[in-house]
Amino acid sequence: MKYPILRLRRLRENFKLRNILSEHVLLKKDLIQPIFVKEGVSSAVEIPSMPGQFQFSLKSAAREAQKIESLGIPSVILFGIPAKKDSSGREAFAKKGIIQKAVSAIKKKCRRLLVVTDICLCEYQSHGHCGHVHKGKILNDPTVATLARVALSHARAGSDIVAPSDMMDGRVAAIRKILDQNKFEHTPILSYAVKYASGFYAPFREAAESAPAFGDRASYQMNPASASEALREAETDLNEGADILLVKPALGYADIVYRIKEKFHCPVGCYSVSGEYAMVKAAALKGWLDEKKIVMETHLGLKRAGANLIVTYWARDLAKWL
Ligand code: PBG
Repeated sequence: MKYPILRLRRLRENFKLRNILSEHVLLKKDLIQPIFVKEGVSSAVEIPSMPGQFQFSLKSAAREAQKIESLGIPSVILFGIPAKKDSSGREAFAKKGIIQKAVSAIKKKCRRLLVVTDICLCEYQSHGHCGHVHKGKILNDPTVATLARVALSHARAGSDIVAPSDMMDGRVAAIRKILDQNKFEHTPILSYAVKYASGFYAPFREAAESAPAFGDRASYQMNPASASEALREAETDLNEGADILLVKPALGYADIVYRIKEKFHCPVGCYSVSGEYAMVKAAALKGWLDEKKIVMETHLGLKRAGANLIVTYWARDLAKWL
Protein backbone atom coordinates (compact mmCIF):
# COMPACT_ATOMS: atom_id res chain seq x y z
CA MET A 1 0.00 0.00 0.00
CA LYS A 2 1.25 3.45 -0.76
CA TYR A 3 0.19 7.07 -0.99
CA PRO A 4 -2.47 8.22 -1.81
CA ILE A 5 -4.24 5.10 -0.48
CA LEU A 6 -1.84 4.95 2.43
CA ARG A 7 -2.11 8.06 4.57
CA LEU A 8 -0.38 7.73 7.97
CA ARG A 9 -1.94 11.01 9.05
CA ARG A 10 -5.36 9.30 8.90
CA LEU A 11 -4.77 7.75 12.32
CA ARG A 12 -3.63 11.03 13.86
CA GLU A 13 -6.70 12.93 12.76
CA ASN A 14 -8.29 13.31 16.19
CA PHE A 15 -7.73 12.68 19.88
CA LYS A 16 -9.96 9.57 20.00
CA LEU A 17 -7.80 7.81 17.42
CA ARG A 18 -4.51 8.99 18.83
CA ASN A 19 -5.57 7.93 22.29
CA ILE A 20 -6.73 4.41 21.49
CA LEU A 21 -3.64 3.81 19.38
CA SER A 22 -1.02 5.10 21.80
CA GLU A 23 1.45 2.30 22.46
CA HIS A 24 3.08 3.39 25.68
CA VAL A 25 1.77 4.87 28.87
CA LEU A 26 3.36 6.49 31.85
CA LEU A 27 1.78 5.37 35.11
CA LYS A 28 2.02 6.52 38.70
CA LYS A 29 3.06 3.02 39.63
CA ASP A 30 6.29 3.43 37.63
CA LEU A 31 7.63 6.20 39.84
CA ILE A 32 10.12 6.42 42.70
CA GLN A 33 10.54 9.75 44.49
CA PRO A 34 13.99 10.54 45.96
CA ILE A 35 14.03 11.96 49.48
CA PHE A 36 17.05 13.61 51.14
CA VAL A 37 17.16 13.25 54.92
CA LYS A 38 19.57 15.37 56.91
CA GLU A 39 20.65 14.56 60.42
CA GLY A 40 20.57 17.19 63.15
CA VAL A 41 18.29 19.74 61.52
CA SER A 42 14.84 20.68 62.76
CA SER A 43 13.03 21.58 59.56
CA ALA A 44 13.11 21.12 55.81
CA VAL A 45 15.38 23.36 53.73
CA GLU A 46 14.84 23.86 50.00
CA ILE A 47 17.79 22.96 47.75
CA PRO A 48 18.74 26.11 45.77
CA SER A 49 19.57 24.36 42.49
CA MET A 50 16.52 22.05 42.75
CA PRO A 51 13.42 24.21 43.34
CA GLY A 52 10.68 22.13 44.97
CA GLN A 53 13.13 19.58 46.43
CA PHE A 54 14.23 19.66 50.06
CA GLN A 55 16.70 18.38 52.59
CA PHE A 56 14.22 17.00 55.10
CA SER A 57 14.70 16.57 58.83
CA LEU A 58 13.93 13.12 60.20
CA LYS A 59 10.44 14.21 61.27
CA SER A 60 9.58 16.14 58.14
CA ALA A 61 10.84 13.24 55.98
CA ALA A 62 8.33 10.89 57.56
CA ARG A 63 5.54 13.43 57.00
CA GLU A 64 6.68 13.89 53.40
CA ALA A 65 6.66 10.12 52.86
CA GLN A 66 3.05 10.04 54.04
CA LYS A 67 2.15 12.72 51.51
CA ILE A 68 3.91 10.81 48.77
CA GLU A 69 2.07 7.64 49.73
CA SER A 70 -1.26 9.43 49.71
CA LEU A 71 -0.55 10.73 46.19
CA GLY A 72 -0.48 7.10 45.07
CA ILE A 73 3.28 6.99 44.41
CA PRO A 74 4.42 3.47 45.23
CA SER A 75 7.99 4.09 46.27
CA VAL A 76 10.68 6.40 47.63
CA ILE A 77 14.48 6.18 47.57
CA LEU A 78 16.30 7.61 50.57
CA PHE A 79 19.60 9.51 50.65
CA GLY A 80 21.15 10.42 53.99
CA ILE A 81 23.27 13.38 55.00
CA PRO A 82 24.97 12.59 58.31
CA ALA A 83 25.80 15.21 60.95
CA LYS A 84 29.41 14.09 60.98
CA LYS A 85 31.54 12.71 58.17
CA ASP A 86 34.88 10.93 58.57
CA SER A 87 37.52 9.43 56.31
CA SER A 88 35.90 5.96 56.26
CA GLY A 89 32.15 6.62 56.29
CA ARG A 90 31.34 4.93 59.61
CA GLU A 91 28.01 6.71 59.98
CA ALA A 92 26.77 4.88 56.88
CA PHE A 93 26.40 1.63 58.83
CA ALA A 94 25.74 3.09 62.29
CA LYS A 95 22.80 1.41 63.98
CA LYS A 96 21.31 4.81 64.76
CA GLY A 97 22.51 6.43 61.52
CA ILE A 98 20.25 8.88 59.73
CA ILE A 99 19.04 6.40 57.09
CA GLN A 100 18.54 3.62 59.62
CA LYS A 101 16.34 5.96 61.69
CA ALA A 102 14.55 7.34 58.65
CA VAL A 103 13.68 3.88 57.30
CA SER A 104 12.10 2.74 60.50
CA ALA A 105 10.23 6.04 61.01
CA ILE A 106 8.86 5.97 57.45
CA LYS A 107 7.97 2.28 57.54
CA LYS A 108 6.02 2.78 60.73
CA LYS A 109 3.87 5.49 59.16
CA CYS A 110 3.60 4.28 55.57
CA ARG A 111 2.56 0.67 55.28
CA ARG A 112 2.06 0.71 51.50
CA LEU A 113 5.26 2.51 50.54
CA LEU A 114 8.19 0.54 49.07
CA VAL A 115 11.25 2.04 50.74
CA VAL A 116 14.47 1.81 48.72
CA THR A 117 17.74 2.90 50.31
CA ASP A 118 20.74 4.18 48.36
CA ILE A 119 23.99 2.47 49.35
CA CYS A 120 27.04 4.69 48.91
CA LEU A 121 29.77 6.32 50.95
CA CYS A 122 30.13 9.71 49.25
CA GLU A 123 27.75 11.46 51.65
CA TYR A 124 29.49 9.89 54.65
CA GLN A 125 33.17 10.40 53.90
CA SER A 126 34.86 13.75 54.42
CA HIS A 127 36.58 13.56 51.01
CA GLY A 128 33.27 12.99 49.19
CA HIS A 129 34.31 9.98 47.10
CA CYS A 130 32.14 6.89 46.74
CA GLY A 131 34.98 4.60 47.81
CA HIS A 132 37.64 4.57 50.49
CA VAL A 133 40.71 6.56 49.49
CA HIS A 134 44.40 5.86 50.00
CA LYS A 135 47.09 8.18 48.65
CA GLY A 136 44.66 9.74 46.20
CA LYS A 137 43.47 6.37 44.82
CA ILE A 138 39.97 4.95 45.18
CA LEU A 139 40.27 1.50 46.78
CA ASN A 140 37.91 -1.12 45.43
CA ASP A 141 37.91 -4.16 47.69
CA PRO A 142 37.95 -2.45 51.10
CA THR A 143 35.07 -0.27 49.87
CA VAL A 144 33.09 -3.34 48.86
CA ALA A 145 33.46 -4.76 52.39
CA THR A 146 32.10 -1.53 53.88
CA LEU A 147 29.24 -1.32 51.38
CA ALA A 148 28.16 -4.83 52.38
CA ARG A 149 28.01 -3.72 56.03
CA VAL A 150 25.94 -0.69 55.01
CA ALA A 151 23.51 -2.86 53.05
CA LEU A 152 23.06 -5.23 55.97
CA SER A 153 22.40 -2.37 58.38
CA HIS A 154 19.79 -0.92 56.00
CA ALA A 155 18.11 -4.32 55.69
CA ARG A 156 18.06 -4.65 59.47
CA ALA A 157 16.46 -1.21 59.74
CA GLY A 158 13.70 -2.40 57.40
CA SER A 159 14.75 -1.29 53.92
CA ASP A 160 12.63 -3.02 51.27
CA ILE A 161 15.30 -2.79 48.53
CA VAL A 162 18.97 -1.88 48.78
CA ALA A 163 20.44 0.11 45.92
CA PRO A 164 24.25 0.34 45.60
CA SER A 165 25.25 3.42 43.58
CA ASP A 166 29.03 3.42 44.06
CA MET A 167 30.22 1.61 40.88
CA MET A 168 32.86 -0.53 42.66
CA ASP A 169 33.55 -3.95 41.13
CA GLY A 170 32.12 -6.93 42.99
CA ARG A 171 29.81 -5.08 45.33
CA VAL A 172 26.61 -6.81 44.25
CA ALA A 173 28.10 -10.25 45.03
CA ALA A 174 29.34 -9.06 48.43
CA ILE A 175 25.98 -7.51 49.30
CA ARG A 176 24.05 -10.60 48.18
CA LYS A 177 26.33 -12.78 50.28
CA ILE A 178 26.05 -10.80 53.50
CA LEU A 179 22.27 -10.41 53.13
CA ASP A 180 21.85 -14.15 52.57
CA GLN A 181 24.07 -15.03 55.52
CA ASN A 182 21.82 -12.93 57.70
CA LYS A 183 18.46 -14.26 56.54
CA PHE A 184 17.71 -11.38 54.19
CA GLU A 185 17.68 -13.65 51.16
CA HIS A 186 14.42 -12.03 50.06
CA THR A 187 15.70 -8.45 50.15
CA PRO A 188 16.19 -7.42 46.50
CA ILE A 189 19.20 -5.56 45.16
CA LEU A 190 18.54 -2.73 42.76
CA SER A 191 21.96 -2.13 41.26
CA TYR A 192 22.97 1.13 39.68
CA ALA A 193 24.75 -1.13 37.22
CA VAL A 194 25.32 1.52 34.62
CA LYS A 195 26.19 4.84 36.08
CA TYR A 196 28.00 7.29 33.86
CA ALA A 197 30.45 9.94 35.03
CA SER A 198 28.04 12.75 34.30
CA GLY A 199 27.89 16.51 34.56
CA PHE A 200 24.20 16.10 35.34
CA TYR A 201 24.86 15.17 39.00
CA ALA A 202 25.99 18.64 40.10
CA PRO A 203 22.77 19.74 41.88
CA PHE A 204 22.60 16.38 43.68
CA ARG A 205 26.03 16.97 45.13
CA GLU A 206 24.74 20.22 46.59
CA ALA A 207 21.64 18.42 47.89
CA ALA A 208 23.55 15.48 49.38
CA GLU A 209 26.63 17.52 50.33
CA SER A 210 28.73 14.92 48.57
CA ALA A 211 30.94 16.68 46.00
CA PRO A 212 34.40 15.08 45.80
CA ALA A 213 37.03 17.22 47.53
CA PHE A 214 39.65 16.32 44.91
CA GLY A 215 39.64 14.82 41.43
CA ASP A 216 36.48 13.39 39.92
CA ARG A 217 34.58 10.08 39.73
CA ALA A 218 35.85 9.05 36.30
CA SER A 219 37.94 6.14 37.63
CA TYR A 220 34.80 4.37 38.83
CA GLN A 221 31.80 5.78 36.97
CA MET A 222 31.47 4.98 33.28
CA ASN A 223 32.72 6.92 30.30
CA PRO A 224 29.77 8.45 28.39
CA ALA A 225 31.48 7.38 25.17
CA SER A 226 30.96 3.66 25.95
CA ALA A 227 27.94 1.47 25.29
CA SER A 228 29.13 -2.15 25.10
CA GLU A 229 30.86 -1.66 28.44
CA ALA A 230 27.42 -0.86 29.85
CA LEU A 231 26.23 -4.28 28.73
CA ARG A 232 29.21 -5.89 30.48
CA GLU A 233 28.39 -3.96 33.65
CA ALA A 234 24.77 -5.10 33.40
CA GLU A 235 25.71 -8.73 32.78
CA THR A 236 28.24 -8.76 35.62
CA ASP A 237 25.74 -7.38 38.11
CA LEU A 238 23.05 -9.83 37.02
CA ASN A 239 25.53 -12.70 37.43
CA GLU A 240 26.40 -11.42 40.89
CA GLY A 241 22.75 -11.47 41.91
CA ALA A 242 21.30 -8.06 41.06
CA ASP A 243 17.49 -8.22 40.78
CA ILE A 244 16.84 -4.89 39.09
CA LEU A 245 19.26 -2.75 37.07
CA LEU A 246 19.34 1.01 36.93
CA VAL A 247 20.72 3.27 34.22
CA LYS A 248 21.81 6.76 35.16
CA PRO A 249 21.39 9.51 34.00
CA ALA A 250 18.17 8.97 32.02
CA LEU A 251 18.21 11.83 29.55
CA GLY A 252 20.80 11.04 26.91
CA TYR A 253 21.05 7.36 27.92
CA ALA A 254 17.76 5.82 26.75
CA ASP A 255 19.72 3.77 24.20
CA ILE A 256 21.37 1.97 27.11
CA VAL A 257 18.01 1.20 28.73
CA TYR A 258 16.78 -0.17 25.42
CA ARG A 259 19.85 -2.35 24.83
CA ILE A 260 19.80 -3.82 28.33
CA LYS A 261 16.10 -4.60 28.07
CA GLU A 262 16.56 -6.27 24.67
CA LYS A 263 19.52 -8.34 25.76
CA PHE A 264 18.73 -9.42 29.32
CA HIS A 265 14.92 -9.24 29.68
CA CYS A 266 15.36 -8.20 33.31
CA PRO A 267 13.66 -5.40 35.22
CA VAL A 268 15.37 -2.14 34.24
CA GLY A 269 14.91 1.29 35.68
CA CYS A 270 16.45 4.65 35.00
CA TYR A 271 17.20 7.69 37.12
CA SER A 272 16.18 11.08 35.86
CA VAL A 273 18.91 12.90 37.75
CA SER A 274 19.25 16.26 39.46
CA GLY A 275 20.72 18.10 36.46
CA GLU A 276 17.83 17.02 34.24
CA TYR A 277 15.48 18.44 36.86
CA ALA A 278 17.43 21.68 37.36
CA MET A 279 17.68 22.30 33.62
CA VAL A 280 13.94 22.03 32.93
CA LYS A 281 13.00 23.89 36.13
CA ALA A 282 15.27 26.80 35.22
CA ALA A 283 13.85 27.04 31.72
CA ALA A 284 10.29 26.75 33.04
CA LEU A 285 10.89 29.49 35.62
CA LYS A 286 12.05 31.75 32.80
CA GLY A 287 8.92 30.88 30.86
CA TRP A 288 10.94 29.29 28.08
CA LEU A 289 9.46 25.78 28.33
CA ASP A 290 6.18 24.24 29.46
CA GLU A 291 7.37 22.10 32.38
CA LYS A 292 4.44 19.67 32.40
CA LYS A 293 4.65 19.06 28.68
CA ILE A 294 8.40 18.48 28.76
CA VAL A 295 8.30 16.16 31.78
CA MET A 296 5.45 14.04 30.41
CA GLU A 297 7.32 13.75 27.13
CA THR A 298 10.76 12.87 28.52
CA HIS A 299 9.38 10.35 31.00
CA LEU A 300 7.15 8.72 28.40
CA GLY A 301 10.27 8.46 26.24
CA LEU A 302 11.93 6.45 28.99
CA LYS A 303 8.99 4.07 29.11
CA ARG A 304 9.19 3.73 25.33
CA ALA A 305 12.88 2.84 25.69
CA GLY A 306 11.85 -0.01 27.98
CA ALA A 307 12.18 1.35 31.52
CA ASN A 308 10.06 -0.51 34.06
CA LEU A 309 10.56 2.13 36.69
CA ILE A 310 11.77 5.72 36.84
CA VAL A 311 13.45 7.38 39.76
CA THR A 312 12.47 11.01 39.34
CA TYR A 313 12.26 14.27 41.28
CA TRP A 314 9.02 14.91 39.39
CA ALA A 315 7.21 11.89 40.87
CA ARG A 316 5.05 14.17 43.04
CA ASP A 317 4.13 16.40 40.10
CA LEU A 318 3.56 13.48 37.76
CA ALA A 319 1.26 11.83 40.29
CA LYS A 320 -0.92 14.95 40.16
CA TRP A 321 -0.74 15.31 36.38
CA LEU A 322 -1.39 11.68 35.42
C1 PBG B 1 26.44 8.81 44.32
C2 PBG B 1 25.16 9.26 43.73
C3 PBG B 1 25.02 10.28 42.81
C4 PBG B 1 23.67 10.41 42.53
C5 PBG B 1 23.00 9.47 43.28
N1 PBG B 1 23.94 8.74 44.01
C6 PBG B 1 25.90 11.18 42.11
C7 PBG B 1 27.31 11.27 42.19
O1 PBG B 1 28.00 10.46 41.58
O2 PBG B 1 27.79 12.23 42.82
C8 PBG B 1 23.13 11.43 41.57
C9 PBG B 1 21.69 11.60 41.53
C10 PBG B 1 21.26 12.86 40.92
O3 PBG B 1 22.04 13.61 40.30
O4 PBG B 1 20.07 13.14 41.03
N2 PBG B 1 26.30 7.94 45.34
